Amino acid sequence: MALTARDLVVTYNRGTVAEQRALDGVTLQVERGSVLVVVGVTGSGKSTLLKALAGIVPPEAGDVAIDGSPLPRPAASAVGMVFQNPERQLFGETVLADVAFGPRMLGAPDPQSRAMSALERVGLDPEEFGARSPFSLSGGEARRAAIAGILALEPAYLLLDEPTVGLDSSGRRAVLDVVEREKRDRGIAIVTHHPDPFLPLADRICALKEGRVAFIGTVEGLVRDPGPYLAAGLRLPELLELQAAAIGRGARLERVGTEPSEVARALLAARGTS
Ligand SMILES: Nc1ncnc2c1ncn2[C@@H]1O[C@H](COP(=O)(O)OP(=O)(O)OP(=O)(O)O)[C@@H](O)[C@H]1O
Ligand SMILES: [Mg+2]
Repeated sequence: MALTARDLVVTYNRGTVAEQRALDGVTLQVERGSVLVVVGVTGSGKSTLLKALAGIVPPEAGDVAIDGSPLPRPAASAVGMVFQNPERQLFGETVLADVAFGPRMLGAPDPQSRAMSALERVGLDPEEFGARSPFSLSGGEARRAAIAGILALEPAYLLLDEPTVGLDSSGRRAVLDVVEREKRDRGIAIVTHHPDPFLPLADRICALKEGRVAFIGTVEGLVRDPGPYLAAGLRLPELLELQAAAIGRGARLERVGTEPSEVARALLAARGTS
């Protein structure tokens, strides 16, 4: 079960002087029960990729399939996308009404209780926050409410565009907790300029360069062969750079770690192998 992009090509303003190819033959999968982290320099096509996977931007060539069938357009509730700065799109009179809006529009049974459950899952107590105006929330709370609005649709696939930008460490932790919990039932793709905190949750990393996939693979694969990733104009997250450097100096790491304590253990175990 996967959300699959095959040979996707997206061009904005086709046939005009402002023509811009944003995706140029992208093939990848977001599998259920897994997290794909998408990185790339500004303008490399990350947001366009998510929009194409969500059926919001039509591809000029190639296709998107969901669990083996063509993606309906709009993709309705099967694919939920949380845009960059989604808190700007909150508009309900209360937080609960805002989060319940999507399921209500879809005619889902009991939108209210879906909204309550979604708020709980993003760590906002529905009793405390449900009756408040969305405009009274802090930035981090509003971000979580916006994510709850998408979760309330119970999408099989969840696409998050820079979900941690501008959040403090507890806000980031809350988003990471949501990703960790929701990963069990859904396929998740996260676009970010700061992949570091997502590494322990990432099943695969994809690096885009000028609308093409420069690298796709596991963290392990990335550390052992970082060349294509670096060639996309990116820097390895520090923990990974450390391990790549150790390997480059001949250390035989048994496995690549994504958390400091794990990495320390792996490096100590490899001591003397270089
Ligand atoms: N609506 C649009 N109309 C025209 N060109 C667009 C549009 N949206 C994106 N582009 C162009 O397509 C390319 C890819 O843009 P995209 O937003 O996908 O990049 P990104 O990797 O998400 O960048 P960032 O990290 O800055 O968010 C860029 O050259 C951008 O200028
Ligand atoms: Mg973007």
